[in-house]
Amino acid sequence: MVSVTLEKIIALSKRRGFVFPTSELYGGLASSYDYGPQGAELLRNIRNLWWDEMVTRRVDMVGIDTQILLHPQTWVASGHVNAFNDPLVEDKITHKRYRADHLIAEWLRKHPQPEEIVVEDLDLAQMAGLIERLNILSPDGNPVFPPKAFNIMFQTAIGVVEGEKQPVYLRGETAQGIFTNFTNLLNSTRLQLPFGVGQIGKSFRNEITTGQFVFRTLEFEQAEIEYFFDPEASDWRQLFEEWRAAMWSFITGTMGIRAENLRWRRHSDQERSHYSRETYDLEYNFPFGFKELWGIAYRSDFDLRQHAEFSGRDMRYTDPRSGRQFLPHVFEPAVGINRLLFMALCDAYWEDLDNQRVVLRLKPALAPYKAAVFPLLKNKPELVAKAGEVFKRVARRFSATWDERGNIGKRYYAQDEIGTPFCITIDFQTLDDETVTVRERDTMVQERVATADLGSYLHSKIEED
Ligand code: GAP
Repeated sequence: MVSVTLEKIIALSKRRGFVFPTSELYGGLASSYDYGPQGAELLRNIRNLWWDEMVTRRVDMVGIDTQILLHPQTWVASGHVNAFNDPLVEDKITHKRYRADHLIAEWLRKHPQPEEIVVEDLDLAQMAGLIERLNILSPDGNPVFPPKAFNIMFQTAIGVVEGEKQPVYLRGETAQGIFTNFTNLLNSTRLQLPFGVGQIGKSFRNEITTGQFVFRTLEFEQAEIEYFFDPEASDWRQLFEEWRAAMWSFITGTMGIRAENLRWRRHSDQERSHYSRETYDLEYNFPFGFKELWGIAYRSDFDLRQHAEFSGRDMRYTDPRSGRQFLPHVFEPAVGINRLLFMALCDAYWEDLDNQRVVLRLKPALAPYKAAVFPLLKNKPELVAKAGEVFKRVARRFSATWDERGNIGKRYYAQDEIGTPFCITIDFQTLDDETVTVRERDTMVQERVATADLGSYLHSKIEED
């Protein structure tokens, strides 16, 4: 196996229309990326699979779609205004800023120390001490100032008249829109504990550039769940384990990610917030090592309590049997859709050295297109017309793409690189007997299939996977 590097993923993403640097025309924008035709399809597939499995197919879940701009008090109550801080250090020469914890972790990786140092547990003063003691330098080899905390909420303003603008924040997470609607959700549905609310949407954080592609960006999409339960009626450990199993099953089963590239990391007591009883990260082995993919935190009743206090409203749930009123506790499984896409690209990347091709071995459910349709020759109108008919037939049920340029081998290889599981070629024999050649991506095996059977053929093959 040839190893997957960040450079290879970035190059493939650009070459094949998955991910482009934002505003490249003007020299780019820090930690910002656009998604090309293939990337947009892959994101859409990931989003839909998540929503389908986590919301639609569960009786205990509903969805919600809340605003990016919320009342600014939301972020005071949630603690983001005061506590959403990243420790940053500044290079004394270039004045570039870096995440102190990332800089220390990277330094320790290259310069292992005899004692065990858990970077996640360090506070600002401890980081400063370590930077001084170990003489940790910036990536440019310069000394750095001691770390300081920077708030990473993006601020903007409502209103058009200068001096009368009201400052607001772009949301730093989608979760708060769920908590602030808790009473509306209770009043407008027949939900009873335990139940959960899922949301997919954009979040924004003024992150410091780290050059890890779409792993950490300023604007990103989150898929978050708040799962509410009665701590007196439920065994929280069991519920928590059920959620961890659901996350694992989505990643390994639905997305087909290899288990050897995944691991759980339990947060230490120091790392966890004071109100959190348990937090785990599901980590993926990205080209730069194991990093957080999907977190699950037991947040107690912290958020509802804060919003009840700051709004002065009663946000308690009434138990329909006993009439007992209380603030439910909550688990929060939170993942980034863009990070899932990045993981999918890394995990699927395969260099088939025997056949000198790069293949994205994506599960068909994830693949931007399930099938590509080719007329064998572009300059034969009867083949192009027949291929057009086949395309229409296939595209009614499956996302499909079309290619009529160049030789067939090149067309196959281009589809391999975007992960299309099946290529369908319309040739002269098709005009005689209404059959086409279907070529499978990973094995390169070709079969003759009747055009009338294409739908059921593709369906059974895709279901098989
Ligand atoms: N509400 C909890 C919360 O937001 P988080 O660990 O800060 O928790 C959840 O974020 C997930 O969102 C992360 O596990 C990651 O997948 C994704 N994420 C967070 N910050 C991100 C960023 N700057 N760029 C891309 N994805 C990010």
